[in-house]
Parts: sequence; C-alpha cells; structure tokens
Amino acid sequence: MRIALLGSIALFLLQTFSTAEPSNEKPNILFIFTDDQDARLNSIDYMPNLKKHMINQGTTYKNHYATIAVCCPSRVSLLRGQYAHNTNITDVSPPYGGYTRFSKLGLGDSTLPVWLQQAGYNTSYIGKLMNEYSVNNFNNPTPKGFHYQDQLVDPYTYVYNKAVFSKNGEPPVYYKGKYQTDVIHAKAVKALKSHRNTETPFFLWVAPMAPHGQFIIQDNGGMKTEPPVPAARHAHLFKDVKIARTPNFNPERPTKTASFWKDYSQLNDTLVEQFDEIHRNRLRALQAVDEMVGSLFDELEHQGKLDNTYVIYSADNGYHIGQHRAYPGKCGNIEEDINVPFIVRGPGIPKGEISDIVSAHHDIAPTLLALAKGSNYVPDWVDGGVIPLTHDLRKHPKPVAQESFAVEFWTDSAMSEFYTNVDVNGPNIYKTVRVISKDYNYMYSVWCTGEHEFYDLKKDPYETTNEFDHIDSQLANRLDALLLVLKTCRSETCRDPWRIIHPDDPSVKTLADALHRKFDKHYTQFKQVTFAECLPFFSVTNEQPTVGQHFITNGTANSNPKTPIHNSSKSTDVIQKLLQSSILQPSTSFQRRDDQELAEIVRLHKLVPGPDTDAVVGLNVLPDDFEKDAQPVPQELVDNQIDWVKHGFYTSFGN
Ligand SMILES: *[C@@H]1O[C@H](CO)[C@@H](O)[C@H](O)[C@H]1NC(C)=O
Ligand SMILES: *[C@@H]1O[C@H](CO)[C@@H](O)[C@H](O)[C@H]1NC(C)=O
Ligand SMILES: *[C@@H]1O[C@H](CO)[C@@H](O)[C@H](O)[C@H]1NC(C)=O
Ligand SMILES: *[C@@H]1O[C@H](CO)[C@@H](O)[C@H](O)[C@H]1NC(C)=O
Ligand SMILES: *[C@@H]1O[C@H](CO)[C@@H](O)[C@H](O)[C@H]1NC(C)=O
Repeated sequence: MRIALLGSIALFLLQTFSTAEPSNEKPNILFIFTDDQDARLNSIDYMPNLKKHMINQGTTYKNHYATIAVCCPSRVSLLRGQYAHNTNITDVSPPYGGYTRFSKLGLGDSTLPVWLQQAGYNTSYIGKLMNEYSVNNFNNPTPKGFHYQDQLVDPYTYVYNKAVFSKNGEPPVYYKGKYQTDVIHAKAVKALKSHRNTETPFFLWVAPMAPHGQFIIQDNGGMKTEPPVPAARHAHLFKDVKIARTPNFNPERPTKTASFWKDYSQLNDTLVEQFDEIHRNRLRALQAVDEMVGSLFDELEHQGKLDNTYVIYSADNGYHIGQHRAYPGKCGNIEEDINVPFIVRGPGIPKGEISDIVSAHHDIAPTLLALAKGSNYVPDWVDGGVIPLTHDLRKHPKPVAQESFAVEFWTDSAMSEFYTNVDVNGPNIYKTVRVISKDYNYMYSVWCTGEHEFYDLKKDPYETTNEFDHIDSQLANRLDALLLVLKTCRSETCRDPWRIIHPDDPSVKTLADALHRKFDKHYTQFKQVTFAECLPFFSVTNEQPTVGQHFITNGTANSNPKTPIHNSSKSTDVIQKLLQSSILQPSTSFQRRDDQELAEIVRLHKLVPGPDTDAVVGLNVLPDDFEKDAQPVPQELVDNQIDWVKHGFYTSFGN
C-alpha cells in the first residue's frame, strides 16, 4: 500500500516533469525579429496571434534590453553576443558601422548562426540583416553561417511596396507590386515547410523590416522619410487608437534634460495628432507580421514540432513617440528605446507567465547555444550569459549577469526620423547603467558633456525626475564604479562586474551587497567615469578610466562623483566643432551634390519599378507559388557601385 502510493507519486512526478522538460533531442529554433518594435508603447497588445501562440503559451521576459538602441550596432551585438564597445560597430553606417565594416573587421566569421551550424543545425535567415547590405555588396562577402539566406538589400530595404531580396549571395530579385512583409511571410513559411521531412534540427531567423519607418529616394534625389506603410488590407484599422498618455508623454515641464533633450519644447496639438497617426501606422504595419506569426505556428503544428521547437519573438531596439517631448525615433537611453519585447515559447518554458529575469541582446546567442546543447561552440570572448529560460539552463556554468548591464551610444547629434528640422542641439553620447532587482530599479548615466542622470524607476517608472543632485554618495559611488566596469567589460567581467570591484570579497554579488556601509571606504578609491571629449566613435583613451586604471592614489580621493562635474573648455569646444560640422539637415547634403550625379542616383533607384498603384499592394497575402513573380533587378544596378551612404541614404535618420 505504502509502496504503491509512493510509486504513483513518483509516476505522477515523472509525468509532470517529462512533459515540461526538454528532451535530449536537439530542439528546433524559430526566431522572429522585428525592426524598431517597442515593448513600452503597447504594440504587442495589437497582435492577436502573438498573444494566442506566444504570450499565452510562453513566457514574456519584461526586463529584456537592447544595450544600444539602433539597428546595426544592436544586430551585431546580438549576432556576436557582445556589447558594442567590443564589436566596435557603433553606428548604422560607415565609417563606424554598416555591413562593410562588419565584414572588414572579420566579425561575420564567428556569430550565432556559425556556432549553431557547428552544433549541427540547419540555419536560415530571411529579411533585414543589417544596414548597408546592398545591391552592390550582397556577395562581398556573402554573409556567413546560413544554409539558406534571403535578405533585403539597400537602397530598397525601407520601402514597403518594393520588395527586393538577395538569396544566398545571388544577384537581387524583386517582386513587383508585392508588400514586403508578405514576401517575407511567404518565404518564411516556405522555408519552414522545407523542413517537413527532415530530422536535422533547424534554426530559422525571420526578420521583417516592419514596423520601421519608410525611407525612399524621391525624384529630386532627396530622401523622403515617412511613417510605416501598412498592407492595403490593414490601412483602415485602429482609427481611434492613440499613444498612451503616460506621465512622460509630452510633459508640461521637461522631464529629461541632458544634452539635446533639454531643447525639446512641448509639442503642440498638431504634432501630437501626427504622432498618434504614426503610432497607428506602426500598429497597422505590424498586422502583416502578426499574420505571419499565425502561419508559422500553423505550419509547426502541422509538422507536429511544437513540442520540440523554441519560438522567440524580439526586436532590435525599442521606439519612442512623444515621450519626454521627443520626436519619433530611437537611440536614447530611455526605457522606450532600450526595453524590447522578448517572448519565448517551447519545452520547459512556463506558459502564460511574465518573468522579471534581467537580460540583454548579447545574452541571446549563448542562451540559444545552451538550448541547442552547443555551449562549447561559444567563444570565450562572448560577453553574454545564459538566460535561465528553463530549469536545465539554471545550472549553466556561464549564467547571465544577475541584475545589471550597460547601455551605450556614440553619435554627434540626436536622430529624428520623419522631422528633419527639429531644433535640438547636443551630442548623443552617453554611458548608462541599469540595475534592476526586486528591491530597486535604477538608471544612472554619464554623458560626454559631463552631465549626469539618475532615475529611480521603482518610484518613478516613467523617468520623469532626474534625481542626480539628491542621491547620497553611498549610492552614487557604487553606481559609478559599476558603470566604470561595465562600460569596458569583456567576457566574464560583463557577467560578474563585482569581481573587478571587490576582487577580495566573493560575497559581493549585487548592488545591495555593495551598498553595505562597511565598503564606504573601499569606494573612495575609484576614479570616476568621464569622457575627455565628445567623440562619435569608441576610443578607449577618450573614455576613462578603464578597468585596470580604475584606482586612484589616495591623495586625490573623492568619494562623491557629484563634485567634479566634468566640463572642461576642451570638451565644450569639441562639441561646438562637432555640431558645426555635422550634417544635421540631410537636405543640405543633397544640395551639395552635382545635378548630374543626383539624376543618376534617381535613375538607378527607379530601375526597380514600384507598384502601378500603392492602393492595391497587400490586399491579400501571397499564394504558395509567389516565387514565380521574382524578377532579376537590372544588371546595371548591380554593376554601378553607388555609394548610397555618400548620397545621404543614412545620414541623421538613424535607420
Ligand atoms: C538545410 O535545410 C534545407 C531545407 O530543408 C535543405 O534544402 C538543405 O539541404 C539543408 N542543408 C544541410 C546542409 O543540411
Ligand atoms: C506646431 O509645432 C510645429 C513644430 O514646432 C510647428 O511647425 C507648427 O507650425 C505648429 N503648429 C501649430 C498649429 O502651432
Ligand atoms: C558647462 O560649461 C558651460 C559653459 O561654461 C555651461 O554653460 C554649462 O552649463 C556647463 N555644463 C555643466 C553640465 O556644468
Ligand atoms: C574602434 O574604432 C575606432 C574607429 O575606427 C578606432 O579609432 C578605435 O581604436 C576602435 N576601438 C577599439 C577599442 O578597437
Ligand atoms: C582615501 O582618502 C579619503 C580622503 O582622505 C579617506 O576618507 C579614505 O578613507 C581613504 N581610503 C582608503 C581606502 O584609504
């Protein structure tokens, strides 16, 4: 009786866990990755398939972040499992970012898909890869790590009604009159179907450009930037939806005051109405993505693979529209820009839960390799750690950093996407540390201008009051020391920054531990985070101190980072120079080009025809035989080595 009872309890336990835990077989991985989708402006509330298949059936990780809030640097950070200060891809375009630099630095040789291939996966990529991958360099080199790849190419990446792709490094093709997201949808379903009768585990990464804004070269050669264009079938939706009027939305008093932020005036009603419409168009553009989510789940279900597939949904960076009075865009250190959707469904992942585990994009690669039982293929230089998504992953020897990460940025001005004459001045160069636990939630920032920010998000979740002038030195000096380590951390020091700060005391694992009064004296020994100048790229000598030079000789000790606010005349001069030289108005850069060259750009751009009329693009999703409509782009376009960057394709829009 007793034995039988124990036996049935054991059987019960066995059943509960065996259905909940991953099997030994390598799981498939489907990664859906959107562009510029917020976690904070409620866009995921408007995606019913995402809710049905992922939010209700998986876990939403609400504390997941991009550590640099712009496409190219963030994508490379994710691909490599590194902070941008270690990839040195710090901008969207040359000289400090873009596909050419990525390739020249050899970064493409060792990335997430390369490691998954080594772990025995069949890997595919469909959609937007990164900035400056174009009709001219699609095979120079062909991106590494994919058995099958089908990527959007510039200068058409941001045009919703002109879908242009290069497949496996072949010359690009276009699909006349087709809605770009629908082509990605059809390609993704087709790729998934190709795995119907195979045993090899697959990794399928699908990256729609939506809900990014549309950037298009106009007849006069100027760049037109406008809100996302929905598929015709979704254009009528959400007429009454407005941006949430949170306490930081278009506030009466300025809520964010560092650098250019202080220059924003309160938005008038006309602008607020325009911003609401931009928000609605983002939601409309996401409907085609949501339909794709539905189709992908239907196919996984058809194949009977739902129990052995992890599905991940995320975005490269977040987005703001009107928060702190800012014009639509990203690139900030505010929650709207850095906090991104991260939803995971699969074996061993709790259903319908919201997790407060803190993680960042550089943790995704090591985490997927851990799910793929291929952690030995992750190089030692990777900064990220394994996010404990499942019970098994909790025991991984390289766990994610417990509660903190750095956020960084390097551009000489604010970028605004659809408004080119916004009158704000100042560099967008900062180091931020976020520390999030059950007991506290802090944002601390040092700008290259010498300004500091401190927001206590537990009491002030919308970051409406910079309390830097009111925090005591006990907290300020700990946060500064933590930022000091994280801003140049590498590998293990990113996962456990406290080992650098307290080399002799392994008991210090969190900010709470470090705050103990017994360490007050210890924290008098650290130099403070400063910039020598405002430089729009990463220079170690400019950003002092670094780990290794972080102790001061105690004659000059200063326990409070608040006193010597760095504001040398040198740095103010440099900022002035930067502001004068920077191309703040894209229209001026166009005016400087000679007319003949300009006409040539417009002519080449038009070699890929648009739809006969926009109104019918995306009336219906595409049929299975959509590939029959693929047409090669004219060879002339491929042969003409146009420097799209030089011609204002990227400047100051922040695509
Ligand atoms: C990868 O999967 C695709 C689609 O099933 C298949 O065509 C290809 O042969 C596979 N490649 C390898 C190396 O397994
Ligand atoms: C609203 O503000 C914008 C930007 O400052 C300005 O161009 C526009 O004229 C203003 N509109 C009204 C109706 O005041
Ligand atoms: C830096 O110096 C300039 C010029 O003296 C001054 O206007 C500005 O307020 C200072 N900034 C800070 C953060 O102290
Ligand atoms: C990053 O790139 C910049 C610009 O190319 C270069 O000056 C700098 O030395 C690089 N930084 C590191 C740490 O390699
Ligand atoms: C460093 O110097 C400061 C100021 O003189 C003093 O308060 C502090 O205790 C010293 N710290 C150490 C670790 O000796």
